[in-house]
Amino acid sequence: MIDLTDFGFTKIPRQEKATRVKDLFSRVSSHYDLMNDLMSLGLHRQWKKSYIHRMRLHQNDNVLDIAGGTGDISIMLHKTFPFLNLTTTLIDLTPSMLDEGRHKAIDQGIVQNINWCAGQAESLPISDNYADVYTISFGLRNVADRSKALSEAFRVLKPGGRFYCLEFSHLEHDTLQKIYDLYSFSVLPFLGKHVAKDEDAYQYLAESIRKFPARLRLEGELKTIGFTTVRSEAWMNGIVAFHEAIKS
Ligand SMILES: C[S@@+](CC[C@H](N)C(=O)[O-])C[C@H]1O[C@@H](n2cnc3c(N)ncnc32)[C@H](O)[C@@H]1O
Repeated sequence: MIDLTDFGFTKIPRQEKATRVKDLFSRVSSHYDLMNDLMSLGLHRQWKKSYIHRMRLHQNDNVLDIAGGTGDISIMLHKTFPFLNLTTTLIDLTPSMLDEGRHKAIDQGIVQNINWCAGQAESLPISDNYADVYTISFGLRNVADRSKALSEAFRVLKPGGRFYCLEFSHLEHDTLQKIYDLYSFSVLPFLGKHVAKDEDAYQYLAESIRKFPARLRLEGELKTIGFTTVRSEAWMNGIVAFHEAIKS
């Protein structure tokens, strides 16, 4: 039997998802940062800022920024906490997203301490028990095999290591969810068509948000993998969710 997974609302063979996702992000990489600002009215910057301030970080931590894309989280970490001397390894599936990120980091004066690598969340080129902190921001929704990606997060974290995830989620109020759906399924593809010249990519974005598990279900998945002290927070009524989990 063919192993199927979601690509937005479409079911596709799981083995095709990484290629489809990589193709999509290759097409939009040059507009990615601008589109984030437009779609969220700049809010994604505030969410990311709150996210890094929620992380428990210590001096000289090894941080893995998985599905790190154009580097917002890694760059923000180094700019906000230069005194922590963090070492960040950013891994992403799409080389053109990494290229955009590298240029952005250099423009902002961050030339050291971020290692940019091509790779997949489901099979990280990282040894066991390496990282103090694992972060995946707006990336988990896109991976082909979430269970494998979470198992890899668990494997690469040291005992005591901290897992963090920031992701779109589901609104906790039905009427607000309906208004949000109206926005996602009209405004996002419209902006995609006129700004990024790729309506399909932003239709996928809206669909992938709807297909992603609700906050408490993701908590359950993290516990199943073996994480302890799993907790989450709904931000802006659940437009985004923050998850923290510890490998004890
Ligand atoms: C929406 S972007 C998020 C980028 C960044 N973390 C941020 O918060 O702005 C999603 C990223 O996930 C990457 N991605 C998708 N599937 C992946 C996988 N299986 N392994 C690693 N990266 C993946 C894409 O290439 C893309 O850069």
